[in-house]
Amino acid sequence: MPGRLDGKVAVVTGGGSGIGRAAAVLFSAEGAAVAVLDRVAEAAQETAETILAAGGQAIAVTADIVAADDVRAAFERVDTELGPVGVLYNNAGVNSSGSILTSTEEDWDRCMAVNVKGTYLCSAAAARSMADNGGGSIVNQGSVAALVGIANFAAYCASKGAVVALTKSMAVDLAGSGIRVNVICPGTVFTTLMRPMLAARGGGDEEKGLAMTVAKYPIGRLGTPEDIARVALFLASDDSAFMTGSVVTSDGGMTAQ
Ligand SMILES: NC(=O)c1ccc[n+]([C@@H]2O[C@H](COP(=O)([O-])OP(=O)(O)OC[C@H]3O[C@@H](n4cnc5c(N)ncnc54)[C@H](O)[C@@H]3O)[C@@H](O)[C@H]2O)c1
Repeated sequence: MPGRLDGKVAVVTGGGSGIGRAAAVLFSAEGAAVAVLDRVAEAAQETAETILAAGGQAIAVTADIVAADDVRAAFERVDTELGPVGVLYNNAGVNSSGSILTSTEEDWDRCMAVNVKGTYLCSAAAARSMADNGGGSIVNQGSVAALVGIANFAAYCASKGAVVALTKSMAVDLAGSGIRVNVICPGTVFTTLMRPMLAARGGGDEEKGLAMTVAKYPIGRLGTPEDIARVALFLASDDSAFMTGSVVTSDGGMTAQ
């Protein structure tokens, strides 16, 4: 059976862990040659090796998406070693902690830099290549935190709101170049990123914080990295050919209440 990303080159940022790793593996299983981009070299390498061991095509690319030079070099390397990028999953992101009263300026700057500027830099690099090569699909990583207020996540909520707005702006600007841009807003997914938040919510008890969080989800469980990866695959592939600028929640009904 043909894969839904056959012949495509896909860049997955934050591909060394969590949702990004699941997406990189799934994109490869659907026929893409995958550039696993991560700030942590060993993490990117581990995902790339998982793909290679399964018979897929992958390279590990170490880059900090906040650094313009890193991003430029990373996309040049992808173009040289795999070919023109057709899919970009802007998945890399960091959390913040604290409310508007308790968070720090450093926390704000870091969160906005990785989640917003990183998405901007990678999108600009990919879009230039896509525009010259017949188009492509950019999938951004938002969060339910872009749609509803989440306690003690001020900078994170603001950064993901900016990603949603950037998605719509890019969708309008890039449609004429054959580039679609959509954003996923996942609910809580049990990954390393979320463990400190769950522990904090439970007053230091991760199990308690987990139970409190699950109670907010009508479906009765948290998401898995694979749940979100499958949505990313749909948006990356031609299955979503008439979608651009869409905000797609994958949150077990959390924001439906
Ligand atoms: N886990 C959740 O509950 C959840 C919910 C909604 C949205 N999200 C979003 O999904 C994305 C992935 O989250 P996850 O839970 O899989 O996180 P994770 O921490 O497991 O993985 C994030 C990856 O991004 C990489 N990364 C971080 N900063 C980077 C940088 N500057 N340059 C390059 N790589 C960098 C990390 O090294 C890591 O491998 C994030 O954007 C996050 O905000 C997560």
